[in-house]
Amino acid sequence: MHNLLKGKRGIIFGALDPNSIAWKVAQRCHQEGAAFTLTNAPVAMRLGAINDLAKECNAQVIPADATLMPDLENLFSKSMEVLGGKIDFVLHSIGMSPNVRKNKPYTDIDYDFYHKTLDISAMSLHKTLQTAMKLDAMNEWGSVVALTYIAAQRVFPDYNDMADAKSVLESITRSFGYHYGKAKKVRVNTISQSPTKTTAGSGVKGFDGFFNYAEMMSPLGNASAEACANYCVSLFSDLTKMVTMQNLFHDGGFSFTGVSREVMEKFSS
Ligand code: NAI
Repeated sequence: MHNLLKGKRGIIFGALDPNSIAWKVAQRCHQEGAAFTLTNAPVAMRLGAINDLAKECNAQVIPADATLMPDLENLFSKSMEVLGGKIDFVLHSIGMSPNVRKNKPYTDIDYDFYHKTLDISAMSLHKTLQTAMKLDAMNEWGSVVALTYIAAQRVFPDYNDMADAKSVLESITRSFGYHYGKAKKVRVNTISQSPTKTTAGSGVKGFDGFFNYAEMMSPLGNASAEACANYCVSLFSDLTKMVTMQNLFHDGGFSFTGVSREVMEKFSS
């Protein structure tokens, strides 16, 4: 380990169980010397697994529904209190679509559900950033990373309204990244991650199909959750200070591959 995050304070959203990408990020941040709080929606707390992670990382758990401003205000205030100063990094690792959960096809979605998808999976990033800015809770050169998926740019039919949410999430990253950069030199980026076997990931219909397809298409293969955690650490560190407002593909080369030999072979007669 390299102490890349020594002395840094963070908030990590979205560790639900040991498969969660946020879980691996928390473990890596801990190894790199960071101090942080863990947060998740109060309903997710009932599973209880987050307490094991908290013990392992010597972190306090502060419940917050990321769609509720009072919860977010409490989260940032308490985190600064517990950690003893302003925040240096935030991981937004939150996604949920009731339409996906209820198997509604994209052409027949429920609009109340659609609101929820956008609020939980995209607007929550804006709410998080706006809360942090109003409370002046971030240190200069602080770094905020949100996780996204390539369905924001290209069609994956069963990714449903999550694709729209990811497009909004990436747009908020650019727009807020501009304002936060100007005001406080805070950086905001998204990491566009390969399909990963987690609760949110496996909830998408046909997940195995596009996991295996992406594996075959990517020259380096799919990026694991552990590799994603490493990339997050680099973006939270001082080694990437001038990177902001970007959507960064972390996908083994999938996004720029037209076709691979392995996939071609499947179609050769
Ligand atoms: P996960 O299911 O472990 O994490 C999603 C988290 O969102 C859970 O911890 C859940 O409790 C939390 N959440 C849901 N509603 C919330 C709310 N109202 N307030 C606060 N938290 C809430 O799954 P995973 O895969 O680790 O997802 C993390 C992020 O990575 C998501 O943004 C997801 O879209 C993204 N991603 C996942 C990929 C995959 O294939 N698994 C691929 C690319 C991006």
